[in-house]
Amino acid sequence: MMTKTNWLKSAIIFCFVVIALLGGRLSTAQKAQVETAGQKFKSIKVLNDMPADQMGKVMNMFSASLGVDCKFCHTSNDGDYEKEGIEHKETARKMIKMVFDLNKSQFNGRPEINCNTCHQGISHPQPSFPLGEAKPAARRPSQPEKGPTADAIVAKYEAAIGGRSNIDKAASRKITSKRVEPDGKTSEPETIWLKAGKYRADLAYGKYVVTELFDGTIGRKFGNGSPIELKADEAEQIKREAELMSGVPLKTIYPRLEFRTVERIDGKEVNYFIGTTTGNVRERLYFDVASGLLVRRTVSTPTVFGGFLYQVDYADYKDIGGVNLPTTIHYAVPNMSWTRRISNVSTSDVDDAIFVLPVKK
Ligand code: HEC
Ligand code: HEC
Repeated sequence: MMTKTNWLKSAIIFCFVVIALLGGRLSTAQKAQVETAGQKFKSIKVLNDMPADQMGKVMNMFSASLGVDCKFCHTSNDGDYEKEGIEHKETARKMIKMVFDLNKSQFNGRPEINCNTCHQGISHPQPSFPLGEAKPAARRPSQPEKGPTADAIVAKYEAAIGGRSNIDKAASRKITSKRVEPDGKTSEPETIWLKAGKYRADLAYGKYVVTELFDGTIGRKFGNGSPIELKADEAEQIKREAELMSGVPLKTIYPRLEFRTVERIDGKEVNYFIGTTTGNVRERLYFDVASGLLVRRTVSTPTVFGGFLYQVDYADYKDIGGVNLPTTIHYAVPNMSWTRRISNVSTSDVDDAIFVLPVKK
């Protein structure tokens, strides 16, 4: 005879089986729904099965690996990408096939080999070997027997940026900054507003204003008030910068924080942690061993050629109204980089209406 608890157990197990089956079926259905490059683009011969939304990332990885702009394989830098009869584009197709075949036959399908493995920023790599005696790789810092705990790293970081009560006091802020382009000379003015975890940044390219917004739900982007479509990882990064600039507790952003190793960045030792968000996004976080400050954060978004890396470097921390803020923030992805330079911060009460968009001015 089935007891009450046994019946309950079977019911629960039955539910799990149904959920597992549905889950399995759902994910296959979802997989089938992912638009491929072959479906979306006009002239695809080898990247047919790649998810279409990886195209931009992959093309930037090609350019960065070869040290060239789009024109090297296409006829221009801004369009006509489907045009055929271009020698470098044809060579690139052979190279793509070679890379896929190598990873499949030698590395169980893992994307271990990519364009940069051989090219390293050069379009036409020459066969060569290092000259002279073999040099051992740079020595890694000595590793502790047991790294710092998540609680210890969080406490040290919070103290380093000014302490919880100061951070909470400065919850409402208006920041003046600029976006400096890679040439180091060109820049665009930017205004950032923060309030209780909400964030808005207006970047002015002359009369064209690009707005990044996080209103507590999802990261969004606008061009002169009209929505700009974002990939999931791009929306996530707007949210992340909003959270970090607002001083949201690290444990809220990353419920799981795990120590990995001690590394070195610019000659300084850093504690390298993996932070996992509630949405299961994994980020690498590097905390200066001496000061406890966050100096680097990287996120890797998968593509058919391996991870597309997004790296943020936080530098020049300055005490502004009791809160220690990074005033130089450098962003880099393959083929693109820019710097946010903060010049002024005022802790004034920001009007809630600022976070309601689209706004037509
Ligand atoms: C090293 C060569 C190379 C570089 C550099 C390169 N591409 Fe491509 N691109 C290709 C190849 C090859 C294809 C076609 C892939 C295929 O046949 O599956 C392609 C296809 C495309 C397509 C799809 C066109 C269509 O409708 O069929 C777009 C869009 C594109 N590239 C954009 C860019 C952009 C933007 C850049 C610069 C950031 C760039 N590419 C840099 C080689 C390159
Ligand atoms: C195993 C090493 C290796 C890998 C991996 C590799 N390449 Fe190459 N690639 C070369 C070599 C070597 C040359 C020069 C060949 C020659 O001299 O004919 C070359 C040449 C090229 C050229 C022609 C450049 C010119 O100036 O004529 C293009 C375009 C190119 N590669 C694109 C790519 C792309 C895109 C990828 C990644 C999908 C890639 N390669 C991956 C080794 C590699």
